[in-house]
Amino acid sequence: MNAEKKRVAVVTGASGGIGEALAKELGRRGWLVTLAARREEELRRVAAEMPSKTAVVVADVTRRADVERIREETLRVFGHVDAWINNAGRGIAKPTLELTDDDVDEMITVNVKSALYGMQAIIPYFQAQDAGHLVNVSSFLGRVPLASIRSAYSAAKAALNSLTANLRMDLAATHPAVHVSLVMPGIVSTSFAKNVRGGAPPPGAVTPAGPPPALPNAPAGAMTPQTAEEVASQIADLLDTPTAELYTNPAHPEIARAFASNPGSLKGG
Ligand SMILES: NC(=O)c1ccc[n+]([C@@H]2O[C@H](COP(=O)([O-])OP(=O)(O)OC[C@H]3O[C@@H](n4cnc5c(N)ncnc54)[C@H](OP(=O)(O)O)[C@@H]3O)[C@@H](O)[C@H]2O)c1
Repeated sequence: MNAEKKRVAVVTGASGGIGEALAKELGRRGWLVTLAARREEELRRVAAEMPSKTAVVVADVTRRADVERIREETLRVFGHVDAWINNAGRGIAKPTLELTDDDVDEMITVNVKSALYGMQAIIPYFQAQDAGHLVNVSSFLGRVPLASIRSAYSAAKAALNSLTANLRMDLAATHPAVHVSLVMPGIVSTSFAKNVRGGAPPPGAVTPAGPPPALPNAPAGAMTPQTAEEVASQIADLLDTPTAELYTNPAHPEIARAFASNPGSLKGG
């Protein structure tokens, strides 16, 4: 099969964690993949391990021009784009009352504006070809803010959830063949917790990886970590069968419903 017939995906944050696992899973499924992130050495490592042809774009997704360059480079190398996964993101380890302006600005920039740049870069192209799939990787914390140490991260992902829903509404009216999906992982075993702004939280802090004091009566498995490979496989399946939203942890839809019906039920640790 020639390159023109193969599906092409852009994965941001592909230098590690979920993005790396997703790129490799898509490669195994026959996709051609653009790997984008800031660390060139890690991107080259992933590219060398990919089972399919890749394009490597060193880019900081907090810069609009970099995100537009990801699109241009993908079109130059592969000729078309079928899916764009806004996966790059970063957490924080600070409760609400300790947040600085810079903390909030970075959480919004890296988790919301980065994805907005991606949406604005690729959706007009998808509209023009009347096909395509945009995936925003959010977090379960964007739906249920059960870890107060992640405060501004949860708020940023909640904003991303809203932008994703509004984009989906707009496209459903005019371009029903352009799909928009929201993915909300729970705890995933990657370097995410180590990479959070402010560093890993102090021992004893309430973290997503800690005990679930915010979730009285939580279903079994609610705080069970998933592997990046497991989540990557779920996202790859989503690209084959587009759905609006994906909770990667099967216990989470029930918690989201309980939270929506009684938001005051979350308890601090
Ligand atoms: N792990 C979890 O428990 C968890 C749970 C829910 C949601 N998520 C979400 O899943 C996504 C992936 O997280 P992960 O667990 O794979 O974390 P990770 O291991 O820390 O990987 C983050 C990825 O994002 C990239 N990135 C960060 N800032 C960037 C920037 N400004 N420009 C370009 N790339 C950037 C990093 O690459 P460079 O450093 O090379 O730029 C890296 O490839 C994030 O959106 C995260 O919020 C993770």
